[in-house]
Amino acid sequence: MRAIRGRVLTFLRAPRGAGDAQSYRYIEDGMVVVKGGRIEAAGPTAELTAQLPAGIPVEHFPDLLIMPGFIDPHIHYPQTQVIASYGAQLLEWLEKYTFVEEQKFADPAHAARNAEFFLDELARNGTTTAVAYCSAHPGSAEALFTAAHNRNAGMIAGNAVMNRHGPPGLLAPAGTAIADSRDLIRRWHGKGRQRYAVTPRFAITSTDEQLAELGALLAEFPTVLMQTHLAENLNEIATVKKLFPSDPSYTAVYARFGLLGPRSLLGHCIHLVRDEIALLRDTRSVAVFCPTSNLFIGSGLFDYDGLAAAGVRIALATDVGGGTSYSMLRTAAEAYKVMQLQGQNLPALAAFDLMTRANAEALGLEKEIGAISPGAFADLVVLDPRATPAMAHRMETVRDLEEELFVLMTLGDDRAVRQTYIAGEPALRSAIASA
Ligand code: GUN
Ligand code: ZN
Repeated sequence: MRAIRGRVLTFLRAPRGAGDAQSYRYIEDGMVVVKGGRIEAAGPTAELTAQLPAGIPVEHFPDLLIMPGFIDPHIHYPQTQVIASYGAQLLEWLEKYTFVEEQKFADPAHAARNAEFFLDELARNGTTTAVAYCSAHPGSAEALFTAAHNRNAGMIAGNAVMNRHGPPGLLAPAGTAIADSRDLIRRWHGKGRQRYAVTPRFAITSTDEQLAELGALLAEFPTVLMQTHLAENLNEIATVKKLFPSDPSYTAVYARFGLLGPRSLLGHCIHLVRDEIALLRDTRSVAVFCPTSNLFIGSGLFDYDGLAAAGVRIALATDVGGGTSYSMLRTAAEAYKVMQLQGQNLPALAAFDLMTRANAEALGLEKEIGAISPGAFADLVVLDPRATPAMAHRMETVRDLEEELFVLMTLGDDRAVRQTYIAGEPALRSAIASA
């Protein structure tokens, strides 16, 4: 049991624009009481200290913000040595850099080392849950689940299943992919905090037969999630048209194989036509906005307002290593810019809601993570809005919480993360001021 004291902020529902003070709960001198890895209570320090049993350690972060840990709903753990690869758009980038690195994950020792690095880096950036693509090798998912389980960190992951248009080292031998995925589901889905996501890499790298099998697998396990890529790049879309000539659209390919639905996370969703948007809305699938990746690989601009107005569910993610930062703060800053280029706005309240509550809701995990409320896991991030000289200097002119949050997302990164708690345990070694 422990108590964490500071400025507590958590979202209650999606903000209806800037200034929506009903969308969050903010406690200037607040306390989060943690017991058995979960949040026991949260409220004003003056009320909670009276009820605390004697001798409970209180970690005090004066002036810092305590928020639910960030959630990254689209990231590739075998791409930590692909990030920052020069000069290519999607299909060339995959062949020249990504498929080369991912083949190295056939080696369990390489996978284990990278899984530890990946989880360390997420924690350093305040991210407590991620939905991760693994490499094609089932052993890569095994390595990530094992490392996450040992830390009691709630991860969702799946090995990226492919059987064509990739190097032989990444293509599942006929008849093995589904058995391997099913085996991973049985071993890891629901073990501790781990969950499985059926992961066709994208339509180009699977035959009809494999997509059908993956759709059947998803139907067989009603709580397993699904992640894939959709309509990221124009050459990708042209290739899908050639490979699936009888389907009316890229999105329709996934629909035909039963891969859309409320548990389905579709990365990118940039170049969609009207019928595809309707398919996403009608199936309650989630479009995952990956701004740093979309800018870096030159894929295009995600139409946030258009998809939201059409009733499509939206999440926000890094997509490392196409994405260029592990930080959800950096990701929100780039989301803001992508929207600015289209005459749209991303209020800071909406950005922080996305990184926490809304991303949890997109995963169907809003009761477990993404909020500081009793019963939820004590996955928390402690943020310092004065982490750098430039931030501290800018903070001198900040007038209210919303402006502070905007400065934090625009200028902040891993340097603003003072501590990350995973199931109530500090994940970083940085100094903690004890009251
Ligand atoms: N489409 C298929 N695979 C990938 C990948 O690894 N990254 C991105 N950004 N898009 C993809
Ligand atoms: Zn991706």
